[in-house]
Amino acid sequence: MNSSSNLDEKSQATNIVWHMASVSREARAEQRNHKSKILWFTGLSGSGKSTLANATNYELFRRGIATYVLDGDNIRHGLCKDLGFSDSDRQENIRRIGEVAKLFIDAGVIVLTAFVSPFRADRKKARELVADSDFIEIYCAADISVCEKRDPKGLYSKARAGLIKEFTGISSPYESPENPELYIDTSIYDLNQCVNQIISYLESRDTLLALK
Ligand code: ADX
Repeated sequence: MNSSSNLDEKSQATNIVWHMASVSREARAEQRNHKSKILWFTGLSGSGKSTLANATNYELFRRGIATYVLDGDNIRHGLCKDLGFSDSDRQENIRRIGEVAKLFIDAGVIVLTAFVSPFRADRKKARELVADSDFIEIYCAADISVCEKRDPKGLYSKARAGLIKEFTGISSPYESPENPELYIDTSIYDLNQCVNQIISYLESRDTLLALK
């Protein structure tokens, strides 16, 4: 991974030189006995992204694996608190998360990102920051009628009442993944079954095994 290639025409920084790390991603993977990946959860609000990411996180942690969850609502309390929900703010939100997730895989961690991430182009850009096999897109595919019925934060009813502008699925678009690594319908399977689908996928790709 050549991180210096991140310097594009939009970069403001000049006179900066990439400093090689003393501990490589490969060395970390060998020491910890597992690879690092981005598990990118996408889906409507209420589709189960955070619940599933956290349950998967717990199962991986229980197995002694280094993991971390980046959750949209939480990250918007800090790193992204300057951003709203316009298309361009969502684009910037996802750009930052893609970059942070890339740092996590360099740090040897399985990072689980739970963001609506409604735009295909933005998810594609996040994927392109890393090797294709490092990016596992997990589509939490509950129908909007199911999400609206769940309405865990009462946001759909506020959006229907016109109290929230640009609400995904109501007044702002959601572009569903065309070819996600995992398609998980959280309205059909219970939480344990959903977690097992993800763990099985990781096991089938030797992510959780020794590299040698
Ligand atoms: S994203 O579109 O930029 O990826 P993100 O995942 O960070 O969104 O934040 C979505 C969360 O913010 C939702 O789970 C919901 O709780 C809350 N939220 C508040 N306003 C909106 C809105 N207009 N559209 C979608 N989610 C919203």
